Amino acid sequence: MSEHVDGEVMVELLEPEELPGEVADGPELAVRATGLTKRYGTLVAVDRMDLAVPRGSIFGLIGPNGAGKSTTFAMMATLLRPTAGSIEVMGANPAHKPRTVRRRMGYMPDSLGVYDNLRVDEYLEFFAASYGIPRAEWPELVGGLLELVDLAVKRTAMVNSLSRGMKQRLSLARALVHDPELLVLDEPASGLDPRARVELRELLRSLNGMGKTIVIASHILAELEEMCSDVAIMEAGRLLASGPPRQILQQLGGARSIRVRFADGTAETFTVADDADQASLLRRLVVDDERDVVEFIEESGGLEQLFMSLTEGIVQ
Ligand SMILES: Nc1ncnc2c1ncn2[C@@H]1O[C@H](COP(=O)(O)OP(=O)(O)OP(=O)(O)O)[C@@H](O)[C@H]1O
Ligand SMILES: [Mg+2]
Repeated sequence: MSEHVDGEVMVELLEPEELPGEVADGPELAVRATGLTKRYGTLVAVDRMDLAVPRGSIFGLIGPNGAGKSTTFAMMATLLRPTAGSIEVMGANPAHKPRTVRRRMGYMPDSLGVYDNLRVDEYLEFFAASYGIPRAEWPELVGGLLELVDLAVKRTAMVNSLSRGMKQRLSLARALVHDPELLVLDEPASGLDPRARVELRELLRSLNGMGKTIVIASHILAELEEMCSDVAIMEAGRLLASGPPRQILQQLGGARSIRVRFADGTAETFTVADDADQASLLRRLVVDDERDVVEFIEESGGLEQLFMSLTEGIVQ
C-alpha cells in the first residue's frame, strides 16, 4: 500500500452493516467530486477539485509526480478522508458508506502490499473471502482471474517471489475479485513489459465493453490517448482541465500539426486549428497543389501536447 495511505487508513470508520442494494442503481456519474481537498499538514495535496467521471467511460487522470493523483484515488477508495469538500463514488460517500463503495469499486493501488507468507492463489482467496464470496466458488474464480491476467503458471508461487510486473498483474486480478462496476487503477502499466502493456490495454477495453467504468492514472500519455474517452489533467493538487481530449485541445485553441509528404520527396508541416481547417487543407493540397500527396499525418501526440501546454512542472 502506498506510503501516504499508511497511518491514515479508514478501516476504523467502517459503519455497521449496510444493506446491499441501498444505492440507487443509476447515478450517471461514477465519481463526482466537489471542492475535494486533502491537506497533509500545511501541504495541500488536492486543492478544491471538481471532478465528474461519466459512467461507462475510460477516464484518465494525468499529472506530474506529486500532482495528487494517488491521494485523489485513495479518497475514492475509502482509504483517506477528505479534509474538505465532498466525493461520491457510484452514488455513495466513501467516508460514510465505505462498504457500499468497496462493494462497487475495485481499487488497484500504486504498489502491492507485502504479504510475506502467501501464495498467489491464497492471496486472491483471501480477498475473495473478504468480499464474502462462497468458498466453493474460489477455485474457479481464482483460476479465471489468473488466466485473465496471464499468471496461471504462478498459481502456487509465493507472492514475494513474483516480478514487479507480475505483482502489478496480481494486483489487477485482486481489484477484479468481486466483479466491481468501477475500477480505479493507479498506474497499472508501470513495470509492465511492452507485450503486457498491450494486453493490459486490451483487457481494460474489454472490461469497459462489459460496462465497467475505468478510472486510470498514468504517465504513459500515448497509451491513455488511445484508450480514454475523457481525461483530467492535474498539477499541484489542482484540476487544470477535464473532458474529452479533443474538446480540451479545442478549448485551449490548441493548434495541430499536420505533416505532409509528397511524391517528389519533399515534406512540409502545416498548422491547422480544427477538423474543418484540416479538411480544407487536405482538399487544397489534393486539388490545387502540383505535387502528389503520399502521406498526410496528424503529428502532435494530442495528449502529450495538452499535458505540456497545461502543466509547468510545479512541484510542491
Ligand atoms: N502521507 C503523506 N504525508 C505528507 N505528504 C504526502 C503524503 N502523501 C502524499 N503526500 C504529498 O502529497 C502530494 C501528492 O502526492 P500523490 O502521491 O497524491 O501524487 P501523485 O500525483 O500520485 O504522484 P506520482 O505521479 O508520483 O504517483 C505530494 O506533494 C506528496 O509529497
Ligand atoms: Mg501516484
